[in-house]
Amino acid sequence: MVVIGDLMTDAVARAFHPLARGSDTPASVIMYGGGSGANVAAWLALEGTDTALVGRRGSDITGRTREMELMGFGIDARMVMDPERPTGTCVVMITHRGDRTMLSDPGANAALQPEDLPRDVFGPDGHLHMSGYTLINEGSRRAARVALRMARETGMSISVDCGSHAPLERAGAESFLDWTNGARLLFANTEQAAVLTGRDEAEAAARVLTAWYPNVVIKLGDAGALWASKTRDDIVVVPAEPVEPSPGSIGAGDAFIAGFLPPWLAGHHPKDALSNAHRLAARALHQPGARPDLD
Ligand SMILES: Nc1ncnc2c1ncn2[C@@H]1O[C@H](COP(=O)(O)OP(=O)(O)OP(=O)(O)O)[C@@H](O)[C@H]1O
Ligand SMILES: [Mg+2]
Repeated sequence: MVVIGDLMTDAVARAFHPLARGSDTPASVIMYGGGSGANVAAWLALEGTDTALVGRRGSDITGRTREMELMGFGIDARMVMDPERPTGTCVVMITHRGDRTMLSDPGANAALQPEDLPRDVFGPDGHLHMSGYTLINEGSRRAARVALRMARETGMSISVDCGSHAPLERAGAESFLDWTNGARLLFANTEQAAVLTGRDEAEAAARVLTAWYPNVVIKLGDAGALWASKTRDDIVVVPAEPVEPSPGSIGAGDAFIAGFLPPWLAGHHPKDALSNAHRLAARALHQPGARPDLD
């Protein structure tokens, strides 16, 4: 499997008290490996899928550390070093109530070039998963679109996810639907599905989206997830087992994608693929940071 996407550092700051604006709030601040594309790749590799990650990082120490972490998971890291831009960083602010706000600086990720794409990872029996951020960030969009074209031309199957709803809305629903034309599977959460379709109700949004994608998976947070397809009228809904997320957990959606893809590509029933997706998402929710905790 080939994942094209972002490699970031997540600086996860968990406030112990209400934020004292303009002053100081005691907090726990921990750095983790992150980036939606890299997270998906890490969970895939952990589960035994041969995985390459294509992306761009800074030529800084952080970038080197982040790349070594990828290798530690057994990922074939096809990272190009950017001579100027730093490795991307996301500040994840979690208030004492548990609300999360992210401030993300994609750094080198947003400069991915078509020349950075290794030709040998494209081939007829493979699958390409494209992280939404790579398409949504203007600086990496051309590379993302070239990659999607190369995957289509070489006969790869393609899945895409929507990144995040606010930047998706800025990029525009029509544009995103156009760029991802030809993908076999779309992943969205409820908010992203609403941005793409104007429908707040997930099943209605899924039906609209099957006009564009043969398969659609919508993540419903604690309610689970659903799968809809162009060729079938029924929508498969699989609820999630209730999980009390651990404080500082992030990226359940990335683990979910890595849990869904291998069984689905192997031809298992979507219900089983969704159950496996929930299993990995629950693992992500039980630990801090967005990557598999190896100990
Ligand atoms: N409170 C919860 N209890 C059980 N499972 C959950 C809970 N929250 C999320 N999940 C699991 O994580 C999956 C993805 O969650 P969500 O729908 O929020 O997607 P996302 O917005 O892409 O992810 P994230 O919020 O991690 O960025 C769900 O489909 C479900 O499997
Ligand atoms: Mg969510």
